[in-house]
Amino acid sequence: MTGIDNREELRRSAVKHLWMHNRGWAEMAERGEPVVMTGGDGVHVTDNTGKRWLDVNGGYMSVNIGYGRTEVADAAYEQMKSLAYFPQASTTEPVARLAQKLAEITPGDLSRTFFVSGGSEANETSIKIARAYQQRMGEPGRYKIISRKASYHGALGLTTWLGGPVSGSTRSDYGPEYPGMIYVPQPNPYRCEFGGTTPSECAELCAGAVEDAILFHGPQAVAAMIAEPVSVPASVAVPGDEYWPRLREICDKYGVMLVADEVITGFGRTGVMFAVEHWGVVPDLMSVAKGIVSSYMPLGGSIARETIADAFAGGDDSRFLQHVLTFAGHPVPAAASLKNIEILETERLVENSAETGAYFLDQLGELQPRHPMIGNVSGLGLLVGIDLVKDRDTKEPFPKAAKLGERLIAEFEKRSLILRPSDTSITMGPPLCITRGEVDEIVTGIDEALGEVERQLAVRAD
Ligand SMILES: Cc1ncc(COP(=O)(O)O)c(C=O)c1O
Repeated sequence: MTGIDNREELRRSAVKHLWMHNRGWAEMAERGEPVVMTGGDGVHVTDNTGKRWLDVNGGYMSVNIGYGRTEVADAAYEQMKSLAYFPQASTTEPVARLAQKLAEITPGDLSRTFFVSGGSEANETSIKIARAYQQRMGEPGRYKIISRKASYHGALGLTTWLGGPVSGSTRSDYGPEYPGMIYVPQPNPYRCEFGGTTPSECAELCAGAVEDAILFHGPQAVAAMIAEPVSVPASVAVPGDEYWPRLREICDKYGVMLVADEVITGFGRTGVMFAVEHWGVVPDLMSVAKGIVSSYMPLGGSIARETIADAFAGGDDSRFLQHVLTFAGHPVPAAASLKNIEILETERLVENSAETGAYFLDQLGELQPRHPMIGNVSGLGLLVGIDLVKDRDTKEPFPKAAKLGERLIAEFEKRSLILRPSDTSITMGPPLCITRGEVDEIVTGIDEALGEVERQLAVRAD
């Protein structure tokens, strides 16, 4: 069989048997997809036709150290050879070492990790711990969970119902909804639901809405609030500096547990190791995944403050957390994660995220005057985004019929850039090893792609 036959057979087989993420295979078949990736190196991946792509998304904003780091593969291989697996009623060396490392690098007294296999499981675990903790504190009525609209916390049972709708998404297939879900506004300074005109004003108004929601439902019914430090699904929403400290105050005031979902933002993505450090806030629980192992293997964790974890220490009443997942605390991803964190630290990738991220944001800002479709540019570290609008003054988005996202994807593909724009935004999270030269390449590609689509849609500069 020739290489070409082989490639075509593989593609057809994927279309026939594989259930891919958030896309229909009928449409993929028509487009000659899926692309089959075979290699990776730094910020680049190569497909089985030999085409080299620049992955501006860094996987799912998750390949923090970049592709192709064989040291991580070696660490996993060595662990697999010596002991491939053992359950967490005992433990193994890499898992114990990783738990200690996380206690050292996470803020404040976050010090005990329950390992899982990904971000959704991490959030399911954090919420389970939050509710069980409230029970242990003699507050059995506290079960409600506050999350923000246009946030994303995962795709499993309860996490499906955390966060609110992003335009075009629906959860109507997955009912009945979980009881006790409370939704509050997203502190997105560009589209503040309360009309706040500065990030600070929006932050204060949105934090106030959290307090109102707690009072409306009754503090005695609310277990926890979960939020991403910087939210991504709708656009890159960097809250005003007041938001997180106010959340901490409000949660303390009403006995509500604060869960930071650092699944995307953790491990250097925003220019510090964990994004809550920007605001000096220590959450009660922190969910992590993605960058903890740069997606080389499945791994996540729920990290608890010491005082919270202590409520599960056992003792006379043995009130430990009843929560067992076979793959939780797997030694092989733990060994890979330790190497991944070592690379982040020794190669100063968190610092690079801050510096190159600021450069990226500046360069995107320079595109704005030339492109009427750019409503806003925002970001923190190497988590950056562009809001796309039909009218900059009213911030009106393009109608669905304009197929803006689809048009942009086609233009990005021509320029070998992996980007997944929607009709309203382009969000980006490349590997943290990216260089200024590679940023320039992305910015040039975006400049050209926007120019082309503006021509197609007859959008003119004022
Ligand atoms: C903020 C956030 N939380 C949770 C998740 C879910 O993580 P996973 O896909 O590993 O289950 C994601 C995934 O993108 C995320 O961005």
